[in-house]
Amino acid sequence: MASIINRRQLLRSSALAGISAFLYPWEAAASGLSIITAPTLPNVSDLIRLGSNENPYGPSQSALDAMQATFSVASRYPWASHAPLIDALAKKHGVTQDHIVLCAGSNEGLRATAAVYGGPGQEIIAAQPTYLALMVYAEQFSTYIHYVPLDKDLQHDLEEMAKRITKRTSLVFICNPNNPTGSLLSAKKIQSFCNAISDQTIVFSDEAYYDYIKDKEYPSMVELVKQGKNVIVSRTFSKVYGLAGVRAGYLIARPDIASRIKGAIMANMSALATAAALASIRDQAFYKFSLQKNEQAVQRLEKIFDEMKLEYLPSHANFVFVKTGKDIRMLNQEMKAEGVLVGRPFPPFNDWCRVSTGSLEELNAFETTFRKVMKS
Ligand SMILES: Cc1ncc(COP(=O)(O)O)c(C=O)c1O
Repeated sequence: MASIINRRQLLRSSALAGISAFLYPWEAAASGLSIITAPTLPNVSDLIRLGSNENPYGPSQSALDAMQATFSVASRYPWASHAPLIDALAKKHGVTQDHIVLCAGSNEGLRATAAVYGGPGQEIIAAQPTYLALMVYAEQFSTYIHYVPLDKDLQHDLEEMAKRITKRTSLVFICNPNNPTGSLLSAKKIQSFCNAISDQTIVFSDEAYYDYIKDKEYPSMVELVKQGKNVIVSRTFSKVYGLAGVRAGYLIARPDIASRIKGAIMANMSALATAAALASIRDQAFYKFSLQKNEQAVQRLEKIFDEMKLEYLPSHANFVFVKTGKDIRMLNQEMKAEGVLVGRPFPPFNDWCRVSTGSLEELNAFETTFRKVMKS
């Protein structure tokens, strides 16, 4: 009883001092203070979201349950909860725990890498277009970026990228499958490129879409990390596991490299995200379901584009890059006006559009709107 009275007094004094406090309903009734209700976030599903390569089926029930079970420890820092996830990821990839760097979304791993390997006098080589985060951060750290256009097949021009290496090159960035094209380099090409280049500088292999590759023998560059090469691999829980809003990702790198990057991580994985990630890697049923749904959605998009006689690239990810022939800025606006979001411009491919794989219902709505807008 005494503790309730004390809490009431504390709440009353904080309210009088203008400090907002959460009140249990019975406390509010007794104190005459108002209840702060749980905030409601804007409903992100008012629009059909096919612009950010999210997974409409996530989070899995097991991830939701795991997060809920973690609510009661959310007042504690998450460090202790990281250990089982690091252990599970190390086992999954056949590396030691010291190879794993957890971060609040792989973007944070990209930023921390840019902080370590960027800076005045340093140069980074990347394809154009590709996923830009690492380069955008590196530019903020005064790094010079060499952008190498994709080749005529809209693949990374690995030969040209290799030619650009100088003694100032601190990192070569490869996104495979690439975003926004969804293209995959041949296993032989990527292996021999990363093998050779990592003798000269750091190779960063962004494998956000690795799970969507259908060839189960396709090599991850984690194989080179295991051989002690200068290779960093990034993975995310945002795509196949459907946890984009939870923010969970990680890097795999040789322990000395991992340790330097850990020192630059600011956005650590929260306890809720850690629990969701751990539940997700154990949930094979959801993983398979997610891949199956994605495959159906890719086929649905391809059917629409085939019927409309539009050129598109074979996708190894959760989106399809299609040549609409229409200015993407205009298309973005017209689709949004009808409630459908599609991918942003990826210069110089200004008459192409990246469409994410939504649910089949979302794709029905996409088709109606897209056909209408393409006629206008
Ligand atoms: C290639 C690539 N890497 C990284 C990310 C960022 O993912 P995360 O949500 O883990 O920060 C994305 C997001 O779309 C991406 O396309």
